Amino acid sequence: MIALGCDHGGYPLMQEVIHYLQQQNIPYENFGTYSEESCDYPVYAKKVAHAVAEGKCEKGILICGTGIGISITANKIKGIRAALCGDCFSAKATREHNDANILAMGARVTGVGLALEIVKVFLETPFSNEPRHVTRIAQIEE
Ligand code: RB5
Repeated sequence: MIALGCDHGGYPLMQEVIHYLQQQNIPYENFGTYSEESCDYPVYAKKVAHAVAEGKCEKGILICGTGIGISITANKIKGIRAALCGDCFSAKATREHNDANILAMGARVTGVGLALEIVKVFLETPFSNEPRHVTRIAQIEE
C-alpha cells in the first residue's frame, strides 16, 4: 500500500500519479489534500509519514510545490527517510543506498513525464541490503 499526500501546489501532479498507480494496479491510500484550495503541507506530510512509520503503508509519495517543505516535515518523523527527487538516478540510488521510504517531488519543478518515471523507478527499485548501507541507515537513527 502506497500512502499519498500533497498540498495545493502538489495537487495537479498528484492526480497524474494517482492515474499512473491505477493503471498499474498499485494499491494506494490518499491522505489528501483533495483540491487546489490553499492548505498547509505539514498536515499532509505528517499523515503520510505516520502511516509509513507505523507500518500501515510500505512507502509514501509526497508532493508540494517544491517538494522541500513536505520532505523536511516528513523527515522529522522517526523512521522516515524521505528523499526529494527530481531525476531517476537519485530515485534509484536513494532506494538502493538509503532505503528511502518516502518519495518527495516538487510539482512546480518537475514535469509530469519525468515525475512518473521517477515514481516508477522509486517503487520498483529494491534496497541493496549491502552491509555498509545497512550500517549507515542505522546510524541515521542514533
Ligand atoms: C505552497 O505555495 C508552497 O510553499 C509549497 O507547496 C511548498 O513548495 C513548500 O515547500
